[in-house]
Amino acid sequence: MLNFEYQNPTKILFGKGQIAKISHEIPSDARTLIVYGGGSVIANGTMDLVRKALVGRKLYEFGGIEPNPDYEILMHAVEMVQKERINYLLAVGGGSVIDGAKFISVAVGWELGDPWEILNNHGKGIRNAIPFGCVLTLPATGSEMNQHAVISRKNRQVSLPSASGSSQGNAGAMSMQSSIESEKLTFSNNKVFPQFAVLDPVATFSLPKKQIANGVASAFCHVIEQYLTYPIKANLQDRFAESILLTLLDDGIKSYQEPEDYDSRANLMWCATMALNGLIGAGVPQDWSTHAIGHELTALFDLDHAQTLAIVLPATMHVRREEKKEKLLQYAERIWGIRGDDHDAVIQQAIQKTVEFFESLGLATKLSDYNIHADQLPEVSVKLLKHGMTGIGERGSVTLEICEEILRTAL
Ligand code: NZQ
Repeated sequence: MLNFEYQNPTKILFGKGQIAKISHEIPSDARTLIVYGGGSVIANGTMDLVRKALVGRKLYEFGGIEPNPDYEILMHAVEMVQKERINYLLAVGGGSVIDGAKFISVAVGWELGDPWEILNNHGKGIRNAIPFGCVLTLPATGSEMNQHAVISRKNRQVSLPSASGSSQGNAGAMSMQSSIESEKLTFSNNKVFPQFAVLDPVATFSLPKKQIANGVASAFCHVIEQYLTYPIKANLQDRFAESILLTLLDDGIKSYQEPEDYDSRANLMWCATMALNGLIGAGVPQDWSTHAIGHELTALFDLDHAQTLAIVLPATMHVRREEKKEKLLQYAERIWGIRGDDHDAVIQQAIQKTVEFFESLGLATKLSDYNIHADQLPEVSVKLLKHGMTGIGERGSVTLEICEEILRTAL
């Protein structure tokens, strides 16, 4: 039975030329910090368009936000915001830059100690946020129109004060070093919806094919996490989800094959936004176990986010085929046109089609393709346990043992 509240405050400016309008969205007296990544937006001319649109405004810039945005780097931006009394943020880039802006926006006013706690608290306790907008250059995450962010803390050594009078010689000196483990955690809060998002397909033409593939797979998997659960007679939600999947099969593939085709890129971009802006998930059961496992794979083995999804999703479908049977049969028929009395065979074919779809985008679907082998899987279990990922999925039925089975299936 459908029963939900849905609200999305982000204004969308969609299409070629829309970057020129951002001055209407940012208060004229704002002290704006433009945040960006490793320089792709400078190389492809997007930053020039942004600077032109905001000429005469008080602007500051902070670059270097990496894919899987790193807490330490973002904290440098937080210092800059405090020092320069910034009161508006503009993210120009992909999901990592936008997620980074979300974190900066709330870390500045965080009153409960170390801002990393925002992640440990999953976004609870946030009181203040600096308003921000974004110019998207990579259709994938949906971050441009949602209230979620994923932040990483990269593995590194830190110095701790030595214990005086140590009798351990060099070993004692070594013990001054302690390592911070790699982590990748999510937070959500309604205060981090962007105020506006510009979606200009032209700003994405410079994407390498690998990133287009990542974007298509990411959007596809976002839909699946909100669709491939169990039926609740939410017919319109199902049809919304299926329409995005079918459009991704057409325009996602076309966009991958013809990187400068405006229309297919525009459709891909809108699909990616609609896949995770809350609309298709309103009122329906949601899974997200593929993402939970995938985040640990990125933190441990440095795989791209979408690479992890292309590995974990088919294995999840296989291991949980009984639990997801009704929706898998619906998926098989409506997305792939497969039907028949032998339900096991139908489901198997639908899973195979999913694998072939990822592979047609150049994405590998096995852990071993990335040199990850059985002896490394216990590390993933330790992380899942540490993060409380022991009863996940739409019914809370995905135990650690099931996660392990999914990972073994994905080897
Ligand atoms: O760093 P720059 O120079 O900007 O280059 C980026 C980066 O190397 C490049 N790129 C972006 N736009 C480009 C471009 N290169 C050429 N031309 C352009 N127009 O692409 C690379 C990857 O960028 P990134 O932002 O990391 O990719 P994506 O958008 O896929 O974001 C991935 C991050 O988002 C998180 C992921 O976990 C990961 O950390 N997610 C966020 C979600 C959310 N906020 O709702 C949900 C997702 O499931 C996901 O977990």
